[in-house]
Amino acid sequence: MRDVAIIGVGQVAVGEHWTTSIRHLALGALQAAMGEAGVRRADMLYVGNMLSGELTGQEHLGALVADFAGMRGTEAFKIEAACGSGAGALRMGYIAVAGGMADIVVVVGVEKMTDMSGADVTAALAMAADGDYEASQGLSFVAVNALLMRRYMFEHGYDRQDFSFFAVNAHRNASHNPNGMFQFPVTAGQFARAKLVCDPISLLDSSPVCDGAAAVVLAPADVARSLSPAPVRIGASAVGTDAVAVHDRRDPLVLDGAVLSVRRAYQQFGGGPEDIDLFELHDAFSIMAALSLEAAGFAERGGGVRLALEEDIGLSGRIPIATMGGLKARGHPVGASGVYQVVDVVQQLRGLAGANQVPNARIGMAQSVGGSGATVITHILERMVE
Ligand code: COA
Repeated sequence: MRDVAIIGVGQVAVGEHWTTSIRHLALGALQAAMGEAGVRRADMLYVGNMLSGELTGQEHLGALVADFAGMRGTEAFKIEAACGSGAGALRMGYIAVAGGMADIVVVVGVEKMTDMSGADVTAALAMAADGDYEASQGLSFVAVNALLMRRYMFEHGYDRQDFSFFAVNAHRNASHNPNGMFQFPVTAGQFARAKLVCDPISLLDSSPVCDGAAAVVLAPADVARSLSPAPVRIGASAVGTDAVAVHDRRDPLVLDGAVLSVRRAYQQFGGGPEDIDLFELHDAFSIMAALSLEAAGFAERGGGVRLALEEDIGLSGRIPIATMGGLKARGHPVGASGVYQVVDVVQQLRGLAGANQVPNARIGMAQSVGGSGATVITHILERMVE
């Protein structure tokens, strides 16, 4: 196995890109990343995407994007793992470079969701749940998370308002991110008054429906310094899975897939939660942020919300999360988010996060969740150059 590094990153601003096609979105991010890395071709291209067939009538994104990017002939695939698709694509790229099958690999996550009606998008997102036992019973994806949040509040004695700092922190950080969807802060008072989407989940607990694309370029770590002034090593890449349906899980309030994924990542990296300077987690809903913090070892069972209550998740807190706005406020173009998270961590480790810089960030973790916890992909990144 070879060490793998990221030598270039790129992104397009998350938003409602009604006049931009899915291939143009992917191209924008891909060209930015390849331009930064100074490469014109790649040995392989992986496209992370969940819903292109359902929402844009376009599958076969691997060849489509390769051709559109001027890389006709290059081996290329779409990787799908629900909302974890982008991180899944990165995992595939990592395996290819680590295993010596490729030297330069481009990974792009792309999603275009806003051309369809809210009802169509809700039905499409529900495909990440269990089709026979959840979605067919009328459970939307928001509803699955609402049930988890309600159960969490009941078991651990929290009320809705106790989750407010997840939104306050994410929006505050997004307000300094030019690529963020919601570049405005929100207050705890606004959180209290936000309209309910699916009780107890409100608008300010939810990530938005949006469009976007982000990309990274991978190379063997031993040549990365000659290709980039600020390469970032992928110190760990790991996946864990769990039952797709929540009722089939050992404990609905423990993300066993995340526990497995993160344990494997810590083992590969040779460290633990105490080594992580920032954590880009899957805050598609506030409840997911709480459960991810617990699964990754930053809090005990039921303690994730307490970290938020004590504001330990802020930029200068014990474990900064959503440092550029996270899925909540930077936006969650589902199949692209896993790559955006990694781009955010890379910028933090390079010291390029501007007003959102985590002081002296050396090691960052990104974790992407497919479905309500069935596929969990964790990457630990480390600064290579002082
Ligand atoms: N947070 C904050 N504000 C939001 C928002 C969010 N998540 N979503 C929409 N808004 C704002 C819009 O900017 C708009 O503001 P404006 O009136 O000032 O322009 C307003 O709320 C209404 O926007 P609209 O797009 O009509 O919202 P909606 O009610 O159709 O959709 C949700 C809101 C929460 C239902 C939708 O974003 C949603 O389904 N989110 C969850 C997506 C999901 O499940 N993703 C997968 C997770 S793994």
